[in-house]
Amino acid sequence: MGLGPFVFSGDEGRWFSGVWPIDFVGSPRVCSARSGCELADMTAQDFLNGNKDRFLNELFDLLRIPSISADPAYKDDVIRCAESVADHLRKAGADNVEVITTPGYPVVYGERIVDPALPTVLVYGHYDVQPPDPLDLWTSPAFEPVIRKTDLHPEGAIFARGACDDKGQMFMHVKALESMVEAGNQPVNLKFVIEGEEEVGSDHLDDFLEQNKARLAADVVLVSDTGIIANDIPSITTGLRGLSYVEVKVVGPNRDLHSGLYGGAAPNPINILCELVASLKDDQQRITVPGFYDKVIELSLEERSAMAEAPFSEEEYKASIDIGATEGEPAYSAPERMSIRPTLDVNGIWGGYTGEGAKTVIASEANAKISMRLVPDQDPDEITQLFKNHFESICPESCKVEVSIMHGAHPAVTPIDHPGYRAAAAAMETTFGRKPVPFRGGGSIPIVTSFEKILGLKTVLMGFGLDSDAIHSPDEHYGVFNYFKGIETIPEFHARFAEFHAG
Ligand code: BES
Ligand code: MN
Ligand code: MN
Repeated sequence: MGLGPFVFSGDEGRWFSGVWPIDFVGSPRVCSARSGCELADMTAQDFLNGNKDRFLNELFDLLRIPSISADPAYKDDVIRCAESVADHLRKAGADNVEVITTPGYPVVYGERIVDPALPTVLVYGHYDVQPPDPLDLWTSPAFEPVIRKTDLHPEGAIFARGACDDKGQMFMHVKALESMVEAGNQPVNLKFVIEGEEEVGSDHLDDFLEQNKARLAADVVLVSDTGIIANDIPSITTGLRGLSYVEVKVVGPNRDLHSGLYGGAAPNPINILCELVASLKDDQQRITVPGFYDKVIELSLEERSAMAEAPFSEEEYKASIDIGATEGEPAYSAPERMSIRPTLDVNGIWGGYTGEGAKTVIASEANAKISMRLVPDQDPDEITQLFKNHFESICPESCKVEVSIMHGAHPAVTPIDHPGYRAAAAAMETTFGRKPVPFRGGGSIPIVTSFEKILGLKTVLMGFGLDSDAIHSPDEHYGVFNYFKGIETIPEFHARFAEFHAG
């Protein structure tokens, strides 16, 4: 059963559907928020079916808040977003909802304890988003959500910064809570930790966990901030890469110089930065920082062939991002290079004259932002130090280099023999009609290893995005199908977890 054509109502920016499938437009189970429903046997799924328009509109309201944690100009919006998440949690039925201040952006906490004898699931998500730049590449403005159809989302996708990462996915948990409360069936105790600094490294969350150990006691952490392979190929992320992020500066002459008068003898920091960066990989695409691979765990052939079971088409991959060939270490497949192998990438590079026309100048300095994705058992602090030592050592006598440390994250692996994983697999099998594939992801979520280290909890990464949803890019979007599928699957997870946890 597909959804009807989507209509977008212009000025006011509210979304509504023109034609809903007849069996729920006319259904007696259409319920208003918090009013409950007449039917005693209403399930969370029934409540979702009767409230889809509202669930979309409420997400739209949240997406309109530009909660960009990286840019101090948006400080008030980030805080307003935290307040809004707290309101939504309260309205959904959560108790003890609090916007807890930290030295950075606040953490939103809420809980709904139904029975101390039941297991407790700690839901984690983030309400902050990446900066939307470059703005001119967005088809519609980043903070004015609209629904458009795409090839992979024939039922429509919500276009806005944060639609998939992570407001849309985090909000599925709030709407799933509301649906369970309205249906009078919440199979586990729930605690929510929704933070506002994930996109800038979660710097204050470790302290928050340390200071709130008792309040956060739980049996498992559930996170929807990752993806599935395709809408008809559900998957569960079983590993995340770590991260070491540095900024480098090459300083040459004490001022910008005329490139005719000085060029040839004066060192050019931009040329030198390019040479240094180029030397960071050899002709086999191996990273040349001494010691970089010392702690990398090589997967066994069995593990690698199990991974190769996950569907991947090199041709489709190339076509989807319009490239002629993939890159990387020849001994590994493209999916392996994106998950179980570490990387080193320049994320930004600047210096000199970049305005209109030509200016003949040798800049005094050049800069680059460099990220390294890490795999077990690489340690972000160690790698950062190795990088710093190496980069300083390869700087020619003509210049000086400075390496500043941005943020880090530890690589994480999550177990597949845990009741949490089994609950997610069973839930997805029910709602997608197909058993999900375990899958190692390439991104990072810094806090996952802290849940284990500080709270002693395993994490289940049950996300619903697609790689093609353009997170961190212009035209980020999230499928309407995926949003509702998440709200449908989450209560199912809780029911299965209650069952499997009990034994
Ligand atoms: N949700 C992403 C991470 C992600 C996305 C993992 C898709 C797996 C699949 C998260 O918000 C993110 O962007 N993390 C940053 C971490 C950083 C800012 C410390 C990342 O991976 O770059
Ligand atoms: Mn995220
Ligand atoms: Mn992100």
